[in-house]
Amino acid sequence: MGLRGPRTWGVRSVDEAQAERVLNAVLDAGISLLDTAPDYGLAEERIGRYLKHRRSQFLLATKVGCDPIQHADHLEVRHTWTAQVIRDNLETSLRRLQTDYIDILQFHGGDAATLQQAGLIELLKTFRRQGKIRWLGISSTLPAIRSLLQLSAFDTVQVPWSCLTPQHSDCIAEAAGLGCGLIIRGGIAQGGPDAEIQRPQLNDIWQQARLDELLPSGTTRAQFILRCTLSHPQHHSVIIGTASLQHLAENVAAAAAGPLPTDVLLQVNQRVATVLAQTAASR
Ligand SMILES: NC(=O)c1ccc[n+]([C@@H]2O[C@H](COP(=O)([O-])OP(=O)(O)OC[C@H]3O[C@@H](n4cnc5c(N)ncnc54)[C@H](OP(=O)(O)O)[C@@H]3O)[C@@H](O)[C@H]2O)c1
Repeated sequence: MGLRGPRTWGVRSVDEAQAERVLNAVLDAGISLLDTAPDYGLAEERIGRYLKHRRSQFLLATKVGCDPIQHADHLEVRHTWTAQVIRDNLETSLRRLQTDYIDILQFHGGDAATLQQAGLIELLKTFRRQGKIRWLGISSTLPAIRSLLQLSAFDTVQVPWSCLTPQHSDCIAEAAGLGCGLIIRGGIAQGGPDAEIQRPQLNDIWQQARLDELLPSGTTRAQFILRCTLSHPQHHSVIIGTASLQHLAENVAAAAAGPLPTDVLLQVNQRVATVLAQTAASR
């Protein structure tokens, strides 16, 4: 998503040279799962263009149900749940990504009743029998994720989680209980207080929970948030968005530093839970 090009959304876009540098640096660093979507502007084309010669080195996850509309100055993200859109998404993604298979094909949202009634889960199983995809996934959030999990139809579940945004903790536990591959996104909380694009709501949680007190020396706040996520006992992979080689290096260093001590994690979770409870009570 961070490698989308111009005429999409948000305040930044990435040029071709930077996309090539970042994508190759990601694989050079040993990262082996890339997540993209037809909704992310030029991202799929760039992965195909710059990494097709390295296809065996990574797992590729993309999404379906995507029906974006390109306006003159921006991309409108829209989701449509028909077999035609799903088929078109897969064929377009395979062409853009310059590959003949997708490792993880995820519904980009959707709800259980719609996906079932339209026969879309069966359609993904057909793709799997045809060798076009390897695993079926969902990328979802509350409340739709609850009924999606009850279908027990998915190999992988992608869900947002970080120590500052723990709202999907129960869903993660439920998905883990089903034996799903658990992919966390938003696991660096958009960079937290260290982000170039500031998100005051997240900064407030950080400040009110006084997390600076728990920061090990030599660790940035973004690295600390990422290490909290990488310490989550039920995750299998964390997708981090970055268009910056420096942030990539910092994030790889954070991963190499390993999980945080249990007492620190407990403190973080308790402090953030208290802040979120106080915020909810004051509404
Ligand atoms: N519905 C869905 O399926 C869905 C929705 C959202 C996201 N996703 C997937 O999840 C991925 C990540 O999502 P996300 O971008 O929302 O969350 P994220 O990974 O928590 O945040 C990415 C942001 O964090 C910044 N960042 C990364 N490392 C940093 C560091 N060391 N220091 C400071 N800032 C840092 C990045 O800016 P810089 O570029 O400046 O590093 C970027 O703006 C997306 O790329 C996409 O693949 C899926």
